Amino acid sequence: MTEYRPGKEEIGRLIEAAMKMREQSYSPYSGFSVGAALLCSDGTVYTGCNIENASYPVTICAERTAMAKAVSEGHREFAAIAVVGGKKEDPEDYSYPCGSCRQFMREFCDPACFQVITARSRDDYVICTLDELLPHSFGPGNLV
Ligand code: THU
Repeated sequence: MTEYRPGKEEIGRLIEAAMKMREQSYSPYSGFSVGAALLCSDGTVYTGCNIENASYPVTICAERTAMAKAVSEGHREFAAIAVVGGKKEDPEDYSYPCGSCRQFMREFCDPACFQVITARSRDDYVICTLDELLPHSFGPGNLV
């Protein structure tokens, strides 16, 4: 696991990538659009949006879309994820990952190091570690 931490410029680029991806959100049922940009430890970025379904629980969140794209391309180590969301016509607001997404991230991220960046704009954001969002978590290490 890496302790690579993005600097201010890189965080800004991640937030902008998440904002751009939010435009791709398919969210006709909730009207809540989310974009995410995931930074791999090698510097690669994968983005994702929420994709809803007429069978509501089948919906996938933006964070999991991004991580599934990255993992399916062979990435296993991650440094940070930027997330932006809000009602479709509204500007970005702090949008924290849901419980399922936190657990999904936990599989591949060192919770003490992995940074979750929730943003309203390029310069207005909050950074939490995954540990802060999912304390006393259950992960792969529990099964060895
Ligand atoms: N959503 C996300 O994309 N990420 C989260 O972490 C929370 C919720 C999406 C799912 C659904 O399409 C909409 O927001 C409303 O729940």
